[in-house]
Amino acid sequence: NTIYVINGPNLNLLGKRQPHIYGHETLEDVKNACIQVGLDNGLDVTFMQSNAEAQIIDWIHDARENATGIVINPAAFTHTSVAILDALNTFDHPIIEVHISNVHKREPFRHHSYVSGVASGVIAGFGTQGYVFAVQRMAQLLAAAAT
Ligand code: DQA
Repeated sequence: NTIYVINGPNLNLLGKRQPHIYGHETLEDVKNACIQVGLDNGLDVTFMQSNAEAQIIDWIHDARENATGIVINPAAFTHTSVAILDALNTFDHPIIEVHISNVHKREPFRHHSYVSGVASGVIAGFGTQGYVFAVQRMAQLLAAAAT
């Protein structure tokens, strides 16, 4: 099984960007952790990041052919993008939404997510470890779907 881990805008600056909120780990660290936990659980992780909404939509379309699960941190597009929601609605396999910070204890505009309605589950506030939880959970969901 191949899963996509898709990251939205500004997450390329992880580790440098507001470390009091997002921590000191870089996106490269997160990528390596996801690939490793994927391997441990029999999943091939394709890890990507873009600042462009169109690129993220194209990757979701691509996942229709090439992936059996999507873990996505849409970053700010979480709160704005009907287009990403519509793209995710074309994907017939599990979707898990991840946020590094606890969006619910932050500004009110971060409390609503367009993506949560199509997600099997949502992880927020566990720092970058949330990605590891998401990949582990994805492995469980895919194993259950295969039986
Ligand atoms: C985020 C939370 C979003 O509100 C914010 O725009 C981000 C990152 C998180 O991982 O905590 O860029 O998705």
